[in-house]
Amino acid sequence: MDTLQEIEKQKEYINQIKKINENKSLKYTILTFGCQLNENDSEKICGMVEEMGYKYTDNFKEANLAIFNTCCVRENAEDRLFGKLGELKRIKEENNMIIAIGGCMMQEKHIIEKIHESYPFVDIIFGTHTLHKLPEDILKILVNHKKLQDVIDIDGKVYEGLPIKRESNLKASVTIMYGCNNFCTYCIVPYVRGRERSRHPKDILEEIEGLAKEGYKEITLLGQNVNSYLVAENWQNLGKSYRGVNSFATLLREVNKIQGIERIRFVSPHPKDFTDDVIEAIADCEKVCKLVHLPLQSGSSKVLKSMNRKYTKKQYLDLVEKMRAKIPNLTLSTDIIVGFAGETEEDFEDTLDVVRKVGFEQVYMFIYSIREGTPGAKMENQIPDNIKHKRFDRLKELVESQIEEDNKKYIGTVQEILVEGKSKNNENTYTGRTDSNKVVILDETEDITGKLIKVKIVSEHMWYLKGTIIRRGEN
Ligand code: SAH
Ligand code: SF4
Ligand code: F3S
Repeated sequence: MDTLQEIEKQKEYINQIKKINENKSLKYTILTFGCQLNENDSEKICGMVEEMGYKYTDNFKEANLAIFNTCCVRENAEDRLFGKLGELKRIKEENNMIIAIGGCMMQEKHIIEKIHESYPFVDIIFGTHTLHKLPEDILKILVNHKKLQDVIDIDGKVYEGLPIKRESNLKASVTIMYGCNNFCTYCIVPYVRGRERSRHPKDILEEIEGLAKEGYKEITLLGQNVNSYLVAENWQNLGKSYRGVNSFATLLREVNKIQGIERIRFVSPHPKDFTDDVIEAIADCEKVCKLVHLPLQSGSSKVLKSMNRKYTKKQYLDLVEKMRAKIPNLTLSTDIIVGFAGETEEDFEDTLDVVRKVGFEQVYMFIYSIREGTPGAKMENQIPDNIKHKRFDRLKELVESQIEEDNKKYIGTVQEILVEGKSKNNENTYTGRTDSNKVVILDETEDITGKLIKVKIVSEHMWYLKGTIIRRGEN
């Protein structure tokens, strides 16, 4: 069966469930852990489940269906899932709720065993490659009332045409490729998400054109290695290029032409794939934000080598310099892991050195978490927790002092911001973001949601800036 037929079949199951659920006013709840890719997957889960007739609730106590979309990139995400599952046992008995757990953690055998042993009341276990089969799984539970497990180890295919219920009506995520081939030695992702598979440009462009028609203004292209987009193997039937798109750079250029879309972001690129054509496309395309996320992980060439990152400290810094020369107003954000196996004080100093030299707009900092099944877990000379934490605190201090300095540079400048809506805790202010993703708060009473406007920055407050509107945008 091809992927389109498979999705048609799942849609039939959705209709069958809808009939079973009719007039029962059933509710569902969902808890999502992990990265933006998981959030985008959850939007698809919500799309399917709502078509089955379930309405969303954020209260587990009143849910007839509870779904967990899990992450296993670090240990704390796992702990949070088990904590929540423990709480659910009693609730499940009281209101006969269906519990389904999916996502990255479910691709790990030892986790599935733990769930069977300690949380036997879980009804459905589904993996990252079987998300599209959730309707079939739920139907089976409704009909047979028997626990089931639907996880496959082989790489899934690329499925198009699933229903989707998006979180926002202004900003949308569009996954363009799945999986990862890089096998950084600390990372579990390639084991739980499989090998790289790119979506066909026709499907991507049509999705974004549809979003533009619905009024979306900002698109984030997603992938574990977004700039290695294009392994054309799964495209035999559709052709190896479409409207000139045969690479990440050409995709950016084509998305840039879509009317109505104002901003394009992408995460996460890998420095090793940051080719000149991508740099040129970012520079040329006015809608592509000039904030680039460039994961560093470590500033030490020795640690980078043992992490299998395929670049050195110098190559990373050279790349930053090259990008700065070609892309006016470039800003950078990054991911850093502290305390990887074998990291000495000197190695850590290298990381601080890169942070000082580059001056990142934002740094996502992580303490190394040993992941069973990865090469990193077998490495000797693991760093004791107290040293990891001390280094983390030193990095955090440096990053925060840099952000404070960086914020000051914004004062008096004119920034274009995309207004996202009223501030959560103040009726008379609106919140938006700069190209560089800084939060800007504006005093305004008129509804300016969704507008791209020019503002003058008047003050800075660590996690946000304040601005005043100087000129209204076109729409
Ligand atoms: N594919 C992306 C993101 C992967 S996961 C990339 O290559 O950048 C997001 C971040 O989690 C990584 O960038 C890394 O900084 C962090 N991470 C991954 N595995 C980790 C681990 N075992 N311990 C701590 N942080 C980890
Ligand atoms: Fe993990 Fe590395 Fe792949 Fe990113 S590139 S998902 S860090 S293995
Ligand atoms: Fe976590 Fe899976 Fe994303 S492990 S970071 S949810 S790809």
